Amino acid sequence: MSTIFERVSLFRSHLEKYGESKISKIIGYVGFTMRKFLFSVLSIGPIPEHVAIIMDGNRRFAKRRTFLRDGTDSASGHRLGFRSLISTIQYCYEMGVKCVTVYAFSIDNFNRSPQEVQLLMDLMKEKMEEMLAEESVLKSLDVKINFWGNLELLTEPALLTAKRAMDTTMHNKGPVLSVCVAYTSTNEIKHAIEASVRDSKGQGQVEVSDLERNLYSAGCVEPDIIIRTSGETRLSNFLLWQSDFSHLQNPKQLWPEFSLRHLVFAVLDYQLVYAYLKKRKEKIEKNK
Ligand code: FPP
Repeated sequence: MSTIFERVSLFRSHLEKYGESKISKIIGYVGFTMRKFLFSVLSIGPIPEHVAIIMDGNRRFAKRRTFLRDGTDSASGHRLGFRSLISTIQYCYEMGVKCVTVYAFSIDNFNRSPQEVQLLMDLMKEKMEEMLAEESVLKSLDVKINFWGNLELLTEPALLTAKRAMDTTMHNKGPVLSVCVAYTSTNEIKHAIEASVRDSKGQGQVEVSDLERNLYSAGCVEPDIIIRTSGETRLSNFLLWQSDFSHLQNPKQLWPEFSLRHLVFAVLDYQLVYAYLKKRKEKIEKNK
């Protein structure tokens, strides 16, 4: 039996022999095959169509890891949060989830320090460009990207990149990623009411269906699961209109710590309540 040191040195010599990219390709392939097996077992039960996520705890994670020197540099936490986001999106789509919606920046987040707001805008622009790059995971999945929110509040470079992302992916046939930026639910509902009143051209009544047609989420199924990391149990003005039958999950991990196993637990937990939620939904729909 070889010792752990012998194994590490063997692994290193393989790395030198085959080159780092080949090894990482092999590791990637093994991971993909294992996930394929895991998801085929999981899909014996119902797979959610729409998963929504409140990515909470990036700064706490950075602080905990003492990345923060003076308490103001939260960039590392947000960067790691983005890594978590990309892998979670990839796992969701591999599992068969059709829509992923994430809360990236609320209107209230504009109250943070100007440096952090600028940092988040710059990071979003940089990461959106990465998402659109030829070699990105999202590109290979043919993902359609939406942005929900009062986009006029974004900085000019972030706004232009968001518009480019929506324009270039508009006809993509793969899963849908909706990124909520400069978003709050109350603002979305206000925007939908205003648009419905405009549509009615002074004819008077506005129906619930008019309002729903004007929500950012129009045409998208309601979220089956809403995950908020860091153990927080509030919705914080996220998808209030759409979350009537969503199963809420509050894993205690901070967002950069959220991994495949936490996602699998969330889906298993949803599968346990699925029959009950379906029955409740059918009953309410019938009485409408
Ligand atoms: C919440 O953690 C996280 C945010 C406000 C920003 C999340 C943004 C990203 C991960 C980048 C997304 C980029 C794109 C293109 C979608 P927090 O700062 O509230 O952390 P705390 O709860 O520990 O204070």
